Order: sequence, then C-alpha cells, then structure tokens
Amino acid sequence: MKKILIAYYSLSGKTRKIVEQVEKTLEECEVEEIKDLNARRGIIGFIRNGRRAMKEKQTDIITSEKNPSEYDLVILASPVWAANMTPAIRTYMERYKDKIKASAFILTCGSSGDDKALEKMENIVGTPVDTVTFSAKELKQETAQKKINKFIEKITA
Ligand SMILES: Cc1cc2nc3c(=O)[nH]c(=O)nc-3n(C[C@H](O)[C@H](O)[C@H](O)COP(=O)(O)O)c2cc1C
Repeated sequence: MKKILIAYYSLSGKTRKIVEQVEKTLEECEVEEIKDLNARRGIIGFIRNGRRAMKEKQTDIITSEKNPSEYDLVILASPVWAANMTPAIRTYMERYKDKIKASAFILTCGSSGDDKALEKMENIVGTPVDTVTFSAKELKQETAQKKINKFIEKITA
C-alpha cells in the first residue's frame, strides 16, 4: 500500500472539507495543514491575497514539518486564488520539491482559473499522477464523493 501525505492550505474551510472527505475515503494517510502567517480575511484581505497569488509571491508558512520524502505520494491541495495556487502551497512546494517523489493535486475554486493553477503547480513539482478540481457547485458531499472516488482509484493504482 502506498504511503500518502496530504499537504493542504485552506482559508475559509472548503478545501479542508474536501481534504477530510479524501482522508476518510483513503482510510490510511497522513495530513499536514499549512498555515499562512500573512493571509488576511475580509475585503482588503481578499484583494491582498489575490494580488500576492497573482504575483506568485511566497509567504511565511507554519507546518508540522512531516518529511515529504518519507511518502510515496504527496497530495497538494489548495484553493484557486486569482487563477493561481495560493502563496502557502507555492511556498510549501518550492521548499519541498526535491523531497516529493510523486504528487497529485486537489483544487477548489468558485468557477474558473483551476486549469491555469494546475499548470503552475506542475511547473514546480512536475507532472502529477492525477488532478481533481471542485467548483463551488461541486462541493456538496455526494457530488464531491464521485470525483474523490475516481481520483483515489487513479492515485492508488
Ligand atoms: C483571494 C481569493 C482569490 C480567488 N480567486 C479565484 C479565482 O481566480 N477563480 C475562482 O474560481 N475562485 C477564486 N476564489 C474562490 C476560492 O477559490 C474558493 O472559494 C475556494 O473554494 C476557497 O477555498 P478555502 O475555503 O479552502 O479557502 C478566490 C478566493 C479568494 C479568497
């Protein structure tokens, strides 16, 4: 059985919810939440966060420092910000790219920009085993589960 780590960032909890659903379906995996010390909530925060993502900035992150090289596969999960990944996931990927043996990506978004964000992620860690995106209307548990099952079938094959 593959040893899997899910490393995720979530500001308002939607990506976290998907990650929890993936964790439950996988049964055995470890989860690492990445915290961004510079992300802000509110309308000013929204603009600032979006700009930081668009400019492809890195940020100060806190993780529990699990070593990605100890896993066969690292699932990287992030919301889409300004058609890009979040600065927190970017920082994590840049920091650990040499320790990630194989990757898979999960994104949540409102409606679009996920394709561009996936491309940017691939530029950092290379081609993922599989990717899956959830738009706002696909976040409902039953709808999400179908996509999660397909994703897990691929990444555990
Ligand atoms: C700063 C910012 C920028 C965003 N940019 C996009 C975008 O370009 N495209 C999109 O579909 N959704 C965008 N969204 C919506 C989020 O991707 C979406 O709500 C996501 O599911 C939130 O995940 P979270 O709850 O884990 O933080 C943006 C949200 C924020 C806060």
